[in-house]
Amino acid sequence: MLIKSPKSHTLREAHITPETAYVSRRRVLAGLGAGIGSLLLARQSHGLDLLGGKSRQAAPRKPLTFTAHKPAPELILTPEPKVITHNNFYEFGTGKTDPAENSQHLKTEPWTLRVEGEVEKPATVDVWKLMNEIGLEERIYRMRCVEAWSMVIPWVGFELGKFLQRFAPTSRARYVAFETLYDPEQMPGQRNRYVGGGVDYPYVEGLRMDEAMHPLTILSVGLYGKTLPPQNGAPIRLVVPWKYGFKGIKSIVKIKLVERMPPTSWNKLAPQEYGFYANVNPAVDHPRWSQASERFIGPGGLFSVKRQPTLPFNGYGEEVAGLYSGMNLKKFY
Ligand code: MTE
Repeated sequence: MLIKSPKSHTLREAHITPETAYVSRRRVLAGLGAGIGSLLLARQSHGLDLLGGKSRQAAPRKPLTFTAHKPAPELILTPEPKVITHNNFYEFGTGKTDPAENSQHLKTEPWTLRVEGEVEKPATVDVWKLMNEIGLEERIYRMRCVEAWSMVIPWVGFELGKFLQRFAPTSRARYVAFETLYDPEQMPGQRNRYVGGGVDYPYVEGLRMDEAMHPLTILSVGLYGKTLPPQNGAPIRLVVPWKYGFKGIKSIVKIKLVERMPPTSWNKLAPQEYGFYANVNPAVDHPRWSQASERFIGPGGLFSVKRQPTLPFNGYGEEVAGLYSGMNLKKFY
């Protein structure tokens, strides 16, 4: 297996290549520590059929009933076709179009979510029933990937904090641990480490309790008014708008409240590159590229990707900076 050590110039490709060119290329990450966004080994789509894309027909999405808010005038939405074809979901391959191509057969209904750990009332929740009774709202958020691209997405969901209160967290609950479905039969990246980018599956993520309880933090069940497509994390995923996109764990089956900081997938793979906190911070560069600016994937055609400055806490500093007062954000990246 060819393993190229990552060099900073290899990462520039996404910065200078028109979006349509780089999203159509499939990549397989080879080896540990490669990191998100590394260009390591390209595989032609007619090459090894490791991904097993069973069905190219889009999985049906249901319309949702939700409360809409007046959108902030400065936010320009990323068009829906781009939101659902430019994805990171390594369980379905590491190329940006792999998740849309290879996840359409994922069985998302029925789906249960287990909430346990430091709670007085652990329970297993039927996610589809939950969608009907919880009261959904639309949240239009900026989304900043650690790879230095960004979108603006109209999510539909509910506040994680309000949801967690149902289970009566104990005083020992200091962190929240999340887990994605582990099902190698349905997820080719979990069957083959080259397809899955070397991630140790199931994909896991975590938040500090106060981050989880913050009203900006949501569990999303939809986007653009309809249920999530599989490639975006159907039927339920996390959205934390002031953190890098990799915190937004997809297709969640378990939430556990815990006393100690839980392990997180990208931190396990490359701890020097991806921290637990992962707050969007233009002043703290990724070891292999700058985080000072980003390519906004917005409306328009081929050359519409716009470079713009990255905002501290992705523009949500007023609401969340207080969570980190006194903390050295270079050390706790
Ligand atoms: N969740 C799982 N289970 N597997 C993944 O590979 N990728 C993360 C995150 N959640 C990922 C995941 C990364 S790196 C990003 S940037 C976002 O999902 C991308 O979300 P999107 O495809 O909906 O834009």
